[in-house]
Amino acid sequence: MTRRIHTVATGSDHAGFEYKQKIIGLLKSKGIAVTDFGASSAESTDYPDYAHEVAGTVAAGKAEVGILVCGTGIGMSIAANRHPGVRAANVESTVAARMAREHNDANVLAIGSRLMTWEKAVEIIEEFLSAEFQGGRHQRRVDKIEDVKKP
Ligand code: RB5
Repeated sequence: MTRRIHTVATGSDHAGFEYKQKIIGLLKSKGIAVTDFGASSAESTDYPDYAHEVAGTVAAGKAEVGILVCGTGIGMSIAANRHPGVRAANVESTVAARMAREHNDANVLAIGSRLMTWEKAVEIIEEFLSAEFQGGRHQRRVDKIEDVKKP
């Protein structure tokens, strides 16, 4: 039985604004509740501000999944991954989107608006939302992600 995602938090900087607005429409058309943390325009802004809001919301259990968009998805994923419990995957293919969920139990998807067409972004988002974590040996590995030992 497929576990349906009901709640998604979204965020972007200026580079991701246009895609992010379209993503909100896409998610709502699927009956998914969206909490959007901005940006609210394509005016130049700083991606960590939005990554921290979305990642904090996911870490607190207030949204099942986060979707972040910047120019590359890189800065967003780096910032989001500073939050314990957040596993943000910067993805450029549908295969990686599926694997991020199935093997890594990724709870944040970070994509780059400058690296993919809108059609590819839709495919990636749909793959990410429909794939399910496989558990088993992957759960053991995911548990070790938070196991940071200081040298
Ligand atoms: C903004 O120009 C750009 O650096 C940002 O959107 C993102 O790609 C950073 O990772």
